[in-house]
Amino acid sequence: MEREELQKVFDEKCASGYDQQWSKIAPLREALHLLIGAVLSDLGDDARILCVGAGTGPELIYLAERFPAWRFVAVEPSAPMLDVCRRKAEERGIANRCEFHEGYLESLRRGDAFDAATSLLVSQFILDREARTGFFRGIAERLRPGGVLVNADLSSEASPAAYESLRGAWFRMMQDGVLTPEAIEKMRAAHDRDVALLPPVEVVEIISAGGFESPVQFLQTGLIRAWYARRV
Ligand SMILES: C[S@@+](CC[C@H](N)C(=O)[O-])C[C@H]1O[C@@H](n2cnc3c(N)ncnc32)[C@H](O)[C@@H]1O
Repeated sequence: MEREELQKVFDEKCASGYDQQWSKIAPLREALHLLIGAVLSDLGDDARILCVGAGTGPELIYLAERFPAWRFVAVEPSAPMLDVCRRKAEERGIANRCEFHEGYLESLRRGDAFDAATSLLVSQFILDREARTGFFRGIAERLRPGGVLVNADLSSEASPAAYESLRGAWFRMMQDGVLTPEAIEKMRAAHDRDVALLPPVEVVEIISAGGFESPVQFLQTGLIRAWYARRV
């Protein structure tokens, strides 16, 4: 999917209650955040964090509340998603530690290097492998040497049969908790067409090619996998 088209999808998703739609699978997100907090907990009190594809801000809000002196830059191309993120940060009294950049990473002004970056459920939408590597390279360029990337993506399995089986369970979970059967069918088609669900070994290769050392997988919840890796 082209960038503009994807941005429109997220503008519309936001208008139709993105956060509410995902609230029923909140335990998956909570597990991810809990572990990200642990992965990043040895950064200093004055850490600066880059949140790429921050969406409505769940990871930013979690980390800002858990680490009360950290500062954040949220990068998000969808204005409605970023507005929700900003509003939540204001309501929670953390907006004074945040900068909100509407757009992509390449248009963010150059400043001090970041200590860590998050990219949660973003790179999966970049179908072209070179472009996906470039996405991670762009993050690496903004981090200090040794800075940490935390990345999560929907991914497939090494074996097609295992993937089909897990995907079945994933959609049953969605149907039980979140979506109507029609919406599930739409999501299934979108997964096939618009989302690059790759086997984990390939995601690791792409992150590494973007300038990161030995990504470590620290979580799997259904189709979501998450890795951390240090900038080379
Ligand atoms: C599935 S949402 C995830 C949002 C948030 N990280 C979360 O975990 O809830 C993906 C977000 O990435 C944004 N996005 C898509 N492509 C992007 C890109 N190339 N760079 C930055 N953000 C992007 C979308 O606008 C959307 O808000």
